[in-house]
Amino acid sequence: MLGNFGQLSVGQKIAGALVACLVLTLVGAGVVYVFPTASNQGYAPEQPIPFSHKLHAGTHKIDCRYCHVGVTESRHATVPSVSVCMNCHRVVKAESPWIQQIKKHYDEKKPIEWVRVHRLPDHARFNHQAHVRKGLDCKACHGDVGQMEKVRQVGALSMGWCLQCHRGMDVSSSVLSAAKPGADPAHPGELAPYQCSTCHY
Ligand code: HEC
Ligand code: HEC
Ligand code: HEC
Ligand code: HEC
Ligand code: HEC
Repeated sequence: MLGNFGQLSVGQKIAGALVACLVLTLVGAGVVYVFPTASNQGYAPEQPIPFSHKLHAGTHKIDCRYCHVGVTESRHATVPSVSVCMNCHRVVKAESPWIQQIKKHYDEKKPIEWVRVHRLPDHARFNHQAHVRKGLDCKACHGDVGQMEKVRQVGALSMGWCLQCHRGMDVSSSVLSAAKPGADPAHPGELAPYQCSTCHY
């Protein structure tokens, strides 16, 4: 019957192709089900105040660390308090309704409730310090935040995503030159430890 495939009508060939596609899709879905890869990739929630990284970190070139002071010292990068905003906005664009809303938070000592974008499960051990002190750029994991109006989760943040970099598979030249200067890009070897206990409590 397979040998006669050439004699099938166009309709039968299309039907056959559709069945093949369906089977491949189901197999593909099964693989994804067994090895969950992406968590919240692409997640970009609305924020209570439309804070633009493109404007602040892109156009005005304010250093990421000016606001995310934790990146070199701790697990968390931390999101800035309202008083950091007021360093500039006491004066800059003070007439804007958004800035007046920020000032109200400041005067009433009420933090702005930013919606968290990235979140690893509690059993995973991650810290910014180990990566940033090694010289990895924020872009290696967060993409080009300085071009984003609204922050979006770029990396999958899955275990496979962490391991791929730790094992030196498919890493960009900037990651390689920070993590292992002088390594051969074709065979970089391991860039960071990948025993279970490295990342799990
Ligand atoms: C003027 C202060 C400021 C600067 C400069 C700044 N950020 Fe932010 N960042 C914030 C605020 C406020 C938030 C929380 C609101 C939001 O998500 O947009 C935030 C959120 C983030 C988040 C998402 C946090 C989460 O909830 O998961 C990332 C990632 C981030 N910033 C990276 C960067 C990078 C990379 C740079 C430099 C290119 C940078 N930021 C520069 C203030 C700043
Ligand atoms: C090796 C990958 C990696 C690099 C490099 C990196 N981040 Fe992150 N970032 C993450 C992960 C993973 C999370 C989620 C952490 C969690 O949920 O505990 C995160 C979370 C954040 C958050 C949310 C709040 C927090 O503290 O968890 C901010 C803000 C942030 N990163 C900013 C930055 C900035 C700014 C830089 C560069 C100076 C940077 N990150 C470099 C992977 C990275
Ligand atoms: C280092 C200075 C600086 C800091 C710190 C800063 N901003 Fe700004 N912000 C600016 C500048 C400059 C502009 C553009 C003003 C203009 O368009 O004339 C701006 C514009 C804005 C706007 C747009 C206002 C409008 O109506 O057009 C918002 C909203 C804003 N900032 C929120 C924040 C928040 C929230 C923080 C704290 C997380 C913050 N900014 C921290 C310098 C700063
Ligand atoms: C883009 C590459 C990259 C990604 C993605 C990445 N890491 Fe790393 N990680 C590194 C490098 C490089 C080091 C530093 C190794 C060193 O100090 O020699 C490191 C170090 C660490 C360390 C400290 C290890 C030690 O004991 O010295 C931990 C823990 C860690 N990473 C966890 C994670 C977790 C969890 C994720 C995923 C959420 C992740 N990393 C994603 C590159 C990466
Ligand atoms: C480089 C960091 C890293 C290493 C090394 C690592 N993991 Fe993970 N693992 C993670 C992160 C991050 C998550 C959470 C994200 C996810 O669920 O995909 C995770 C999730 C898990 C989960 C939960 C999966 C689920 O569906 O909730 C298990 C089980 C696990 N890891 C086991 C292991 C074992 C066993 C090893 C050693 C062979 C190991 N991990 C090594 C980073 C790592």
